[in-house]
Amino acid sequence: PPLSRILSLADLEAVAKATIPHKAWSYYSSASDDEISFRENERAFSRFFFRARVLRAVSWCDPSTTILGYKSSLPVFVSGAALAKLAHPLGELNITRASGAASIIQMVSSNSSFSAPEIAAAALPSQVLFFQLYKHRNDAIAAQRVRDIENLGYKAIFLTVDAVVPSNRERDIRSPWELEDIETGVPPVYEEGPEAQDGSGLGTAGALIMNDDRDMTWEKTIPWLRSVTRLPIVLKGVQCVEDALLAAQAGVDGILLSNHGGRQLEYALPPMEVLYRLRKDHPEVFSKLEVYLDGGVRRGTDIIKALCLGAKAVGLGRPFLYAQGAYGEAGVTKLIRILEREMTTGMRLLGASTTHDLTPDLVERVDWQPQ
Ligand code: FNR
Repeated sequence: PPLSRILSLADLEAVAKATIPHKAWSYYSSASDDEISFRENERAFSRFFFRARVLRAVSWCDPSTTILGYKSSLPVFVSGAALAKLAHPLGELNITRASGAASIIQMVSSNSSFSAPEIAAAALPSQVLFFQLYKHRNDAIAAQRVRDIENLGYKAIFLTVDAVVPSNRERDIRSPWELEDIETGVPPVYEEGPEAQDGSGLGTAGALIMNDDRDMTWEKTIPWLRSVTRLPIVLKGVQCVEDALLAAQAGVDGILLSNHGGRQLEYALPPMEVLYRLRKDHPEVFSKLEVYLDGGVRRGTDIIKALCLGAKAVGLGRPFLYAQGAYGEAGVTKLIRILEREMTTGMRLLGASTTHDLTPDLVERVDWQPQ
């Protein structure tokens, strides 16, 4: 269908499912084991209802914010997700160009199909990019990578901490690689070296994180990363309140509450539930670092709910892959427009004109699951 007929993120996903290669769909849409965390990520948002305030002037409405001090037209960023080229020849560059034009921030995956320099080169001069780091087990190699990223002008390091070993993603493992997928989509790490060969039975993700550090610790890894870069550090994949507190103690600049879109530990709590508990029991944490969330964000109201509970911004993974796979750069532009429209409509009906108006008293958690 023409883009003008696309109304929602679900519409974009449906077009992607029908049009992108089967392997791309299997890799993007799959999650761990029985995909419970994946489904619950999205369902968790539906247990939060609004207490809308009326008779507030809302003709002026500004959904913009800052993320680590950088302006963002929406409280939304691209969560780094690997191998965008599996679904479209321009892959991540579709996302870079559309997000640059719309002034939102892209977090570039360590396992992008285009290299970090290629993606930086496709960005506008003033465009802000963040980098998602899978830490190599060799500190010297990892440090060099971080320095290269800093020199390329990336503005923050999101260290992924929830993927120390590959998980079991059966729909991905079952789906065979087609020759053209291998030619177009797979980064060299997948094909190089005997270790990568060993990883082939683990599914796509298993092969991609073969050389990663499985022994990262609070004591060792955070000070190490601080010693190699001046960039802000965000921990991607914090999954409980206790670790959010440790992150604040460790002095990182932010945490991304995430269970990797349900793709790592099956039965990891939905990030929206973790955010709710953190806000309820430890509101002081939100003034020590920026808190973000990703996983299951599909509507403007999801974004608003997360902001009400203290998130500074939210990330989306799959929706960007689907949008670029289905319609290239124009699909990503459409996705951002849809989120903007849904967000400003939601904010106005809630009685909020800026993100500062989004406060905990505007949402209520119910203990029943809507159908
Ligand atoms: C991911 N994600 C991910 N995370 C990461 O730190 N490094 C990576 O390379 C990838 N790769 C990746 C590939 C694909 C296909 C998906 C779907 C996800 C996780 C991603 O950053 C994010 O946490 C989730 O995608 C958020 O959930 P939603 O928005 O997809 O529901």
